[in-house]
Amino acid sequence: MDFANQLKQSIDILAVVSERVPRLRRAGSRWVAPCPFHQEKTPSFGVNPTMQRFHCFGCGEGGTVIDFVMKMDGVTFWEACKYLAERFGIPLPKRSGDSDAKTKLRAGIFEAHELAQRMFRAAIGSAAGASARDYLKKRGVTAALAEEFGLGLSDRSGQMLARKLQQSGWTPEQMEATGLVSRRDDGSFYDRFRGRLMFPIQNEQGKVIAFAGRALSDDDQPKYLNSPETELYHKRLVLYNLHRARKPIRDQDHAVLVEGYMDVIGLAGGGVGEAVASCGTALVDTQARMISRHSERVVVNFDPDTAGANATERSLQILLGEGLHVRVLALPGDLDPDEFVQQHGAEVYRKLLADAPRYFHWLADRARLRFDMRDAEGKLEAVRYLLPSIQRLRDKFERAAVATELAHQLSIDKVFLLEQVKGNAALRPGVRPRTDIPANEKLLLREMLNNGDARRQLLGRLNAEGLQLTAETRNLLRAMAAAEDRGDGGFDFDAVAARVGEPERALLTSLIFADEGTNGEQMIPHGQASNLDQALACADALEKASREVRISDLKTKIREAEQRGDLAEAMRLSEQLQKSDSNRKHLRRGRGIE
Ligand code: UTP
Ligand code: MN
Repeated sequence: MDFANQLKQSIDILAVVSERVPRLRRAGSRWVAPCPFHQEKTPSFGVNPTMQRFHCFGCGEGGTVIDFVMKMDGVTFWEACKYLAERFGIPLPKRSGDSDAKTKLRAGIFEAHELAQRMFRAAIGSAAGASARDYLKKRGVTAALAEEFGLGLSDRSGQMLARKLQQSGWTPEQMEATGLVSRRDDGSFYDRFRGRLMFPIQNEQGKVIAFAGRALSDDDQPKYLNSPETELYHKRLVLYNLHRARKPIRDQDHAVLVEGYMDVIGLAGGGVGEAVASCGTALVDTQARMISRHSERVVVNFDPDTAGANATERSLQILLGEGLHVRVLALPGDLDPDEFVQQHGAEVYRKLLADAPRYFHWLADRARLRFDMRDAEGKLEAVRYLLPSIQRLRDKFERAAVATELAHQLSIDKVFLLEQVKGNAALRPGVRPRTDIPANEKLLLREMLNNGDARRQLLGRLNAEGLQLTAETRNLLRAMAAAEDRGDGGFDFDAVAARVGEPERALLTSLIFADEGTNGEQMIPHGQASNLDQALACADALEKASREVRISDLKTKIREAEQRGDLAEAMRLSEQLQKSDSNRKHLRRGRGIE
């Protein structure tokens, strides 16, 4: 058995999910919660412990415990396996071949970052670090705060790290892969970061995976130099400070999104620990999703300049796209968050944070500045500008309320704006399984998915020719039989899912995760009969009904053949009819029915 399978079998998905998903509660044989991967009020996220799978009917995410960790933590397959193995004390296999080389490389990059971090920390504490320490002091960063954020200093010479790595026997390829050193044309190496204030960038487990280096003098450009993408560092999967902020974010039930590293640190220094930033790039959807795992609410607090306002606007769309509840904090007096907290204190900041308006009010103010609201054309443009953001609101009553407020804020006709909002109500995506699969087929499939005995007794019967079944059910039964034939013991979701198309997968998922017995779905009432007995009775009924359909079909065909005068065909069909009939009697006797 491969390692991933071993993990899946020895780790209970429920243990892993319940650690990370709040408000998980039992509902029959499943567990449900509001989905951690998108925003919602009614829970459409479910875990099925029997199948050891999760699925969300809202956003369509689903899979095994490994998929869950990959999606939650934004990590690769191997990282998820590794995390689970370490968390649950399962020994990691010795890997060989290609993947081994990659694992080694990644371990090497981690190691290089640990080494670099130790060097940077030592340097800022040494005599050579005096001016860097002064700089921090001047900016209001205490020694304790600098230590908490692991701030350091890179060596001016540009030799220290490169030399150290070389001495430790690193190959040129390994060295380059770290992103910490660069190669000259002559093949020699030099440090990427030289004489800069170093900000370690950590993953959600707190491991250093990259750096940002801030210039200590104005003529050193660029102001911030960032690590390149490496095998360990994918900018779209990292938010600066998230590993420290996750608890404060949950406690406050909101995250604060700021632009700069210094803003994060300044806020943390004032006791506002829930701030995160993207690292020198515009915010992207994966980062918004990382926030939404910890809270559905976010306050955007970017710098007060034009660049900050434009970045706010772009980020809003990204955050709204992930279903987050978004507010915008525009600080008074042209101060960025760091400066504001330094000048006015965290208490004042907290108060403004609490009162920050929803994003549409901020957008309406933008619209008022951008368009000439005195003439009709300008108003129309403002409406066009605002409309997509209003339509992102999921609740139609809220949409109407917001439209009314904004009409007032912009002095435009309320009825006109409401019409616009209604006319373009956006459709929301979602994976919906077919709803017209007959209840008896669902009952059979569900029982067979959950019970090996049911599979053994029923697979052969139900895969027989001539049974009246929907195509999806038939395809699923074939796939189940094929998976069972491989004999890897027990039913394997992936083995079945791999053998069918999208409609069958949707059905499979709905069987495993949807409510059981709702909408009068079960033909046979709950009661004395065990689930298996119910399923067997269901199969009997299905066979009987199918036979009757077949017989009446045959009779029709015989009549038609006789009318055409095709007696040979009529004879052939009559023989078939007799066979079916005696079959039926035989079966009835055999099972003692009647
Ligand atoms: P800021 O210039 O606002 O930086 O850029 P800051 O963090 O507030 O730092 P101070 O207060 O000026 O010292 C915001 C963010 O943009 C990225 C960094 O992520 C920075 O934190 N940036 C900025 C770069 O990546 N490179 C640059 O040259 C400048
Ligand atoms: Mn700044």
